[in-house]
Amino acid sequence: MRNPATVSIDSFGPEGSGSGLDTAGKRWSVRAAAPGSVVAVGGKPKAGILLEVLTPAEGAVAPRCAQFGVCGGCQWQHMSLEQQHAEKHAALTRLFEPLGGVDHGLVGADPYGYRNKVELSFGRLRYMSKAELDTGISREGRFLGMHAPGRFDKVVDAPRCEIISEDMNAVLARVRADTLASPWALRDPVAHVGFWRHVGLREGRNGVLVLLFTASGDDEQAAWLAAHAPAWGAAGVLWYENDLPADAAVGTLRAVLCGQDHVVERLGGLTYRLSPTAFFQVNPAGAELLCATVALAAGSGTTLVDLYCGTGALGLACAKSFDRVVGIDVNATSIADAQANALANGVDATFLAGEVEKRVAELQVHCAAMGTHPVVIIDPPRVGLHPAALAFVAGLDAKALVYVACKPSSLLRDGLALMAAGWTCTDRWVVDLFPQTGHVEVVSRWERA
Ligand SMILES: C[S@@+](CC[C@H](N)C(=O)[O-])C[C@H]1O[C@@H](n2cnc3c(N)ncnc32)[C@H](O)[C@@H]1O
Repeated sequence: MRNPATVSIDSFGPEGSGSGLDTAGKRWSVRAAAPGSVVAVGGKPKAGILLEVLTPAEGAVAPRCAQFGVCGGCQWQHMSLEQQHAEKHAALTRLFEPLGGVDHGLVGADPYGYRNKVELSFGRLRYMSKAELDTGISREGRFLGMHAPGRFDKVVDAPRCEIISEDMNAVLARVRADTLASPWALRDPVAHVGFWRHVGLREGRNGVLVLLFTASGDDEQAAWLAAHAPAWGAAGVLWYENDLPADAAVGTLRAVLCGQDHVVERLGGLTYRLSPTAFFQVNPAGAELLCATVALAAGSGTTLVDLYCGTGALGLACAKSFDRVVGIDVNATSIADAQANALANGVDATFLAGEVEKRVAELQVHCAAMGTHPVVIIDPPRVGLHPAALAFVAGLDAKALVYVACKPSSLLRDGLALMAAGWTCTDRWVVDLFPQTGHVEVVSRWERA
């Protein structure tokens, strides 16, 4: 690392990092640095590493997490929730000026303990701050935590996480104690050897599921897992094997070691049974607000089309105001869950597995068969709409579009294209599903001009 630079943070950059000039006039992007603060940073200007806060920003609050700033998760624990909301809303108001529409403000739920899902990586090398390095303690050992930003080879050891619940932290503590004390090697991401790879935790109304991702196991490892898993206090423990080199928490299910193999969630009076790897919003209380906001934006009608539907949360939440729902998502497991959830909740719905951009002709037929002008929910991944999907949506004879965006700049780009195709943004809402980070969900309603 270079000598520390002194940077005066004057604004937020992309994704909520602090942005500011050093004493030589060079601009830095610094994770977890608040506008108004003066900080000592190392690393590179594009991805500065916060070493020390020299002068705190006015109104700064103490971060709750011991790993704040280096863990790659939260960026904004140094700001109160009120400040976070004000910053998010002001930035989005500026960004969406070209789109117009009535701004209905921002709503949000609890600041901590809100996440129902977390993924941690095992590692033999610990990420250390400069102060820790100066103490001379070893980097090597057995660790479980998050990757430091931009560091695939080093893990920020994380005994607990402040944005998951206390129940999840209790299960994590037991899993951590047993796996780190086990005789099996932790994964080396360079040599691609070692048994333990990742731990996923997923919480629902039925408790906490543990997802263990390892290299292929032998009989001794299988017996060890079967003996230890029941003592972790989880609703279920699932074991996935993965021998591929890529560092991702994925794999083939080898065994349900104990308990249940699914998550149960309840939102807005509906019950969802979810496969452990299927998509669901990570903040259930926030998702309830999101569903209510999307239902408000969608209004009522005969038919509702739910593009990028996942397990059907948004479409099913609006279903009582429509006669019929049609959804599509590329994830076949999510689609199976969505179909089962529609049935269980008495909703007349058809869910298709496939990519929106490749099933445009079929979706056209579905829309035409509905006979009336549908309302179309669009909730794409962060990249926004594929050009073919955008052309399909822009050309629809729909009553209204409800575009839900987790990346505001994607909504801006696609929204400008919708405007060019004759659509008008009538309303915008912001839902803060991700406190302590720079992320939000934006809901927008569009009608033909
Ligand atoms: C932001 S999530 C929205 C999920 C859902 N609307 C919800 O709120 O639970 C985006 C979804 O898009 C799906 N997806 C990604 N690319 C896709 C594509 N090309 N066509 C269809 N679905 C896609 C993902 O599987 C994921 O479920």
